[in-house]
Amino acid sequence: MHVLHVVGARPNFMKVAPVHAEFRGRSQVRQTLVHTGQHYDANLSDIFFEQLQIPRPDVSLEVGSGSHAVQTAEIMIRFEKTILERQPDLVLVYGDVNSTVAATLVCAKIGTKIAHVEAGLRSFDRTMPEEINRLVTDQLADLLLIPSEEAEGNLLREGVAREKIHFVGNVMIDTLRTLLPQARMPQVTGLGDRYALVTLHRPSNVDEPESLRRILETLTTISESMQIVFPVHPRTKARIESLGYRFENSDRIFAIPPTGYLECLALQQRATVVVTDSGGLQEETTALGVPCLTVRENTERPITITHGTNTLVGTDMNMLLDEVSKVLAGQGKGGRIPPLWDGRASKRIADIVLGVEAQTVRRAA
Ligand code: UD1
Repeated sequence: MHVLHVVGARPNFMKVAPVHAEFRGRSQVRQTLVHTGQHYDANLSDIFFEQLQIPRPDVSLEVGSGSHAVQTAEIMIRFEKTILERQPDLVLVYGDVNSTVAATLVCAKIGTKIAHVEAGLRSFDRTMPEEINRLVTDQLADLLLIPSEEAEGNLLREGVAREKIHFVGNVMIDTLRTLLPQARMPQVTGLGDRYALVTLHRPSNVDEPESLRRILETLTTISESMQIVFPVHPRTKARIESLGYRFENSDRIFAIPPTGYLECLALQQRATVVVTDSGGLQEETTALGVPCLTVRENTERPITITHGTNTLVGTDMNMLLDEVSKVLAGQGKGGRIPPLWDGRASKRIADIVLGVEAQTVRRAA
């Protein structure tokens, strides 16, 4: 069986790593890895390939940045050629980025089977580009591999056939469990034991100057009671620079470049609290048992709230300050590990993919 994986942006890399590794151990599988080039900076891409030991991509489409339409269309144009040349039996797409939906659209039109890893998550907020990507990808995919049980209800409500849905658990946690022993703190001179890790990159938080300014001012307030480490995503860096904002107390707030995976794990593990708008960090903090305050009005990962350590604070900065005070008073949210976040999701994915192939062959015979 020939399996082709499509990745493009940072949050895809920790998902493909364990699945690709699992298939390497299955003799009946041949693999092709395609990198669309949606993320191209070394600290958003190369460092993850290195640390997660993902083989070099077989195909690099090098699409780069652009508006949603330009980026999605460019991936489609280049990826169509790849599919026609390589003729895989199944394409695996990951998560909810533009590369995910672009590859899915191409495969659906050509008639190539698609498996979606991390299917069925919904924020119910169509102003998020990722929600559009999730909805379209899940309508077109043939195999929907879900990380948590509530995803099944979301898919059934949208008319997806039950037999296409498989509860496999969370592949990000496979990677976390494998690499946690190698987690290492980045060099941040002057950082003490008690700090908040902050990451922000959602357009709804950083593209609107007033929201960004309010968030940055709130971070300055938080930094009076706790140091802050803030790895700054390129999108956010550009927006902060265009605001002309300067953090005043620089020995309290450490704005650093985006970190590698191992550094990000260590920063989360040792943090007093994580303040974020990332999907991945909501899950990783739940797995690590670290309180997480999510600066969004909704989340497509509600299990991190019902089971885990996550609290939605929305864009209400007073609520963010209140929740930080609670953490400082030792009342941070505890949690438990959600079902099938057990480090074996990629094994289940490989079993299902190969089992489905066996069924198809049996039916054809
Ligand atoms: C993308 C994903 C988002 C994911 C995030 C993780 C979509 C719709 N969004 O958002 O779901 O959470 O990745 O990082 O797919 N840039 C660089 N270097 C790069 C890549 C981008 O400097 O290697 C800059 C460019 O100015 C670009 C901007 O970042 O315009 C945004 O990049 P883009 O890939 O469009 O979206 P992200 O915000 O990274």
